[in-house]
Amino acid sequence: MARGLFISFEGSEGCGKSTQIQRLAARLTGLGKSVLLTREPGGTEIGEHLRELLQHSKAGHAMCAETELLLFTASRAQLVREKIAPALAAGAVVLADRFLDSTTVYQGAARRLDPARVEAINCFAVGECVPARTFILDLDPAAARARLAARAGAPDRMESQSTAFFDAVRAGYLALARSGDARFHLLDAARPADEIADAIWHATAPLLT
Ligand code: TMP
Repeated sequence: MARGLFISFEGSEGCGKSTQIQRLAARLTGLGKSVLLTREPGGTEIGEHLRELLQHSKAGHAMCAETELLLFTASRAQLVREKIAPALAAGAVVLADRFLDSTTVYQGAARRLDPARVEAINCFAVGECVPARTFILDLDPAAARARLAARAGAPDRMESQSTAFFDAVRAGYLALARSGDARFHLLDAARPADEIADAIWHATAPLLT
């Protein structure tokens, strides 16, 4: 059984996940906790190759939705066994920048692959490794696009999807947040970063042993 604490962060591109993960990690390390940060796709040597194919390489542009689903979940399967499960077994706090809910939302809700199959493949990939708490940072897609446009660099394959795709991503996350599963904690990502960080801390502190 895992001894550590597993927390994931979800939301559209530009929602501020990375900032909040850094802030929570700083608070936790300040308390002497051992913290592992992960990001998806990637986080292992195999996963970083898959990230390149999924987001950056020209070869990825011909990818069908089914392949995309399998590659994202393949990256996660490797990350779980190589990094996350061992860290939890050692008692660390794992902060994941995206996990299985990204697949439910992007490949299920937005790409419209069959939700039951997406769930089955998700479950196969992660086994029993499911977050204790998942923070969903909700942001209007137009605001998210404006934040992305302000960043340096060209958009990658996933960031170049249509407005309808990102509307579906947002709706997919809101549906999860309203599913009744107590794992989900919805946050308004348009609020000041300090306020969001405090809300995340208040929801995390009681989970620490
Ligand atoms: P990011 O880490 O910069 O947010 O990029 C990851 C991109 O990949 C983002 O567009 C969301 C997408 N994605 C999926 O479509 N499905 C997944 O399962 C994961 C982990 C990410």
